[in-house]
Amino acid sequence: MTDTLLNHRSIRKYKKDPIPYTILQYILEAGTRASTTGNMQLYSIIVTTKNEIKEQLAPCHFNQPMVKEAPVVLTFCADFNRFNTWCRLRKAEPGYDNFLSFFTAAIDALLVAQNVCVAAEDAGLGICYLGTTTYMAGKIIDILDLPGGVVPVTTVTVGYPDEWPEQTDRLPLEAVVHREKYSEYSDHDIEELYREKELMASYQAFVKEHKKETLAQVFTDVRYKKEDNVLFSKSLLDILTKQGFMNHP
Ligand SMILES: Cc1cc2nc3c(=O)[nH]c(=O)nc-3n(C[C@H](O)[C@H](O)[C@H](O)COP(=O)(O)O)c2cc1C
Repeated sequence: MTDTLLNHRSIRKYKKDPIPYTILQYILEAGTRASTTGNMQLYSIIVTTKNEIKEQLAPCHFNQPMVKEAPVVLTFCADFNRFNTWCRLRKAEPGYDNFLSFFTAAIDALLVAQNVCVAAEDAGLGICYLGTTTYMAGKIIDILDLPGGVVPVTTVTVGYPDEWPEQTDRLPLEAVVHREKYSEYSDHDIEELYREKELMASYQAFVKEHKKETLAQVFTDVRYKKEDNVLFSKSLLDILTKQGFMNHP
């Protein structure tokens, strides 16, 4: 299993072969053994295999080709709908129409997503997360018929790899691990920790391609811009209100 984790790379090109039903069931079964808050399983997983629905979903993911090309698209949702319904049927009044409950369910959904991903990779499949889900949650809700209490939080495309890209870099372990307490970074630490990344030819080409001065500017000015973050934050907050998670005046 550690080999599987150490070998991870996102796969964005898939063979046309479908995923056999038993294998898909197996990775979903393994995924749902993930830890879950109070064993409430506050998530749902929407399995999309039909081309017609993938075609509807594709624009929500900014037409990233994996959505139509992967045999399976999994949308992981924070879901209090099922649990609330059970509570009401059993004379229990749910108090889960608030932001904390959304966050709790989102954590559950992300944990199950990552376990499904690891199980898929261990079974020889490739995966790629799609962060576009939170940007376009409203449209995805309509397409997948998600009721109140349910919010999509991430999407994963799954299929047999038709590429085996170089592994991406990671910061050195000491950049992300703090011993006992958080040790604040000096400017010198940051210079040291990011040096190797900044010197990589692939990132230097990226900086040139976008006519920027530094790699950080590619993130702030091109890939994850403030105006987009503000726009999508507002739409996500509206969705949380609409789906019943912001009831704390
Ligand atoms: C929450 C999340 C959202 C992501 N969204 C996208 C995406 O929309 N498109 C994409 O091609 N990759 C996406 N990725 C994959 C990352 O780009 C990838 O994990 C990162 O570059 C590291 O590469 P690796 O997974 O191959 O190690 C996403 C990853 C995460 C965790």
